Amino acid sequence: MTSSQAAGAEEAREDAEVSTRKKTFTEVQTERSEQAERTVLIKCPQKLNEKKLLQYLSSHGNIKSHFFFENRGIHALIEFSEKNSIDSLQDAVGVPSAAEHHVVPFKSRLFTFTLKNPVSQAAGGTPVHLSPQFHIPVKDLIPKLCHADSISSQMYMLLNEYQLTEENIKLRYLACSLVRDFARAYFPDSTVKPFGSSVNTFGKLGCDVDMFLDFCDTQKHATKMKKGPFEMEYQMKRLPSERLATQKILSVIGDCLDNFGPGCIGIQKILNARCPLVKFSHQATGFQCDLSVSNSIAIKSSELLYIYGCLDPRVRALVFSVRCWARVHGLTNSVPGTWITNFSLTMMVMFFLQRRSPPIIPTLDQLKELADEKDKHVIGGYDCSFVTDLSKIKPTKNTETLDVLLGDFFEYFGNFDFRRNSLNLRKGKEVNKPESSPLYIWNPFEQDLNISKNVNQPQLEKFVAVARESAWILQNEDKTQQTIKKEPWGLAALLIPFGKSNASKTKNRMKGIGSETIRSLLDSLKLNSANSLQKAVGK
Ligand code: GTP
Ligand code: MG
Repeated sequence: MTSSQAAGAEEAREDAEVSTRKKTFTEVQTERSEQAERTVLIKCPQKLNEKKLLQYLSSHGNIKSHFFFENRGIHALIEFSEKNSIDSLQDAVGVPSAAEHHVVPFKSRLFTFTLKNPVSQAAGGTPVHLSPQFHIPVKDLIPKLCHADSISSQMYMLLNEYQLTEENIKLRYLACSLVRDFARAYFPDSTVKPFGSSVNTFGKLGCDVDMFLDFCDTQKHATKMKKGPFEMEYQMKRLPSERLATQKILSVIGDCLDNFGPGCIGIQKILNARCPLVKFSHQATGFQCDLSVSNSIAIKSSELLYIYGCLDPRVRALVFSVRCWARVHGLTNSVPGTWITNFSLTMMVMFFLQRRSPPIIPTLDQLKELADEKDKHVIGGYDCSFVTDLSKIKPTKNTETLDVLLGDFFEYFGNFDFRRNSLNLRKGKEVNKPESSPLYIWNPFEQDLNISKNVNQPQLEKFVAVARESAWILQNEDKTQQTIKKEPWGLAALLIPFGKSNASKTKNRMKGIGSETIRSLLDSLKLNSANSLQKAVGK
């Protein structure tokens, strides 16, 4: 065997190995980002002959995958096999005539497919399949859930309806890649990568795209330069603080997107926030985007959640149900405020799963023990090392059903001593609160920070009250009766705001209980729980 054959065989073995095991977070990011670079977006006429479109495009190169979606008109995402097919397409297309529009000389990867004679050219086409980019509203989900045979299958149903699709993920990476094209006008070695719920396995259709500008290659380059006698005054001026550099970079990128970014509208620079960012709406893909500058710790948080999400199918099912439940009851909100964020809520679910017996997911300290040399990362003095190869983590022996886990989640946090204790995911233990914030969840990496510092006492009380009510509903429901009466049951019953029909429901619940003793017992339980609610949350 020649050395190149041997290298080829080694590569093939590695490919086979990667395809049989779960990919690491970095492998997924690299693969998806590379895929996005070979991708273009095409606005299509309403009446479209799919075959013709693909035929035109094929003259520029092989199409690896494609799909259509609706976003103020039909769009096609086209993934070519080779990147240079895009150059070929860009060279062959026309640009709007300068008499009508002032053209900014920037070759984008957004195209419009126009037909000289739309009617005849579209003839022979069948309606294209449109891939959904949004989930169905909760009110339409509830009747579907009622047909399931267990709470567990209801939870998987919700997951299937809400989770990001393959197509939506491709579109998210494409949005980042299109922003990167702009960023490179200023910073040739920069990349733009998604983080947060777009990549941590907990994103739902319709959620924002958190993206960061990364100068990773620049830093590598700088390290290399240190070996020689020269120091390069690279592209950046020397600035007195990293924060100021971040603010200046985001400010110019924000202006650039505002002035020249096709389909980038509503640009808001939020440069004085703790984590400076630029918000904008990317019309071409339909996403609301938050662009920040590389924040290694936030990326590590995304990777940690990715690992937890991949370890056991129950993890994502529980997170999706809890997030949906929290949104319905106004415990979370799309705008920032004193309420619990989806990020904190996800960490609460992770903590709960660490506390099961046997645990469903390992603690962060256990993941750190499994880390090898290449997993070692110290960021800003904080040790952020943990194992990245999923196959090194032993599967859990816990076999509890999601029916049990959902009910116990509400019970656990309905009775949690928030006044005294905090949630520490590194140790997987409740520990004394280091300060008096109503809800204290240790930042897994920056151990002196509380990720839920924003949550105030009334919001925590509301969370505890709704959790208790939910635990109560699950414990006392009679699925057969509810199915006969065509009333929502299980998870479906929890996705209806309690305030609305609460009084009549409570009455109904009481009617169902025959014995006077049980009724008074329940009354006293509710009374006790009201008292202990005040105690638990520190009133
Ligand atoms: P949704 O967008 O609500 O679906 O969830 P998300 O996880 O993407 O949350 P969000 O867009 O608010 O934030 C994006 C990422 O920033 C999160 O996944 C975290 O990695 C990080 N992040 C958000 N809030 C906090 C916080 O309070 N503390 C820390 N340390 N990181 C945060
Ligand atoms: Mg987000």
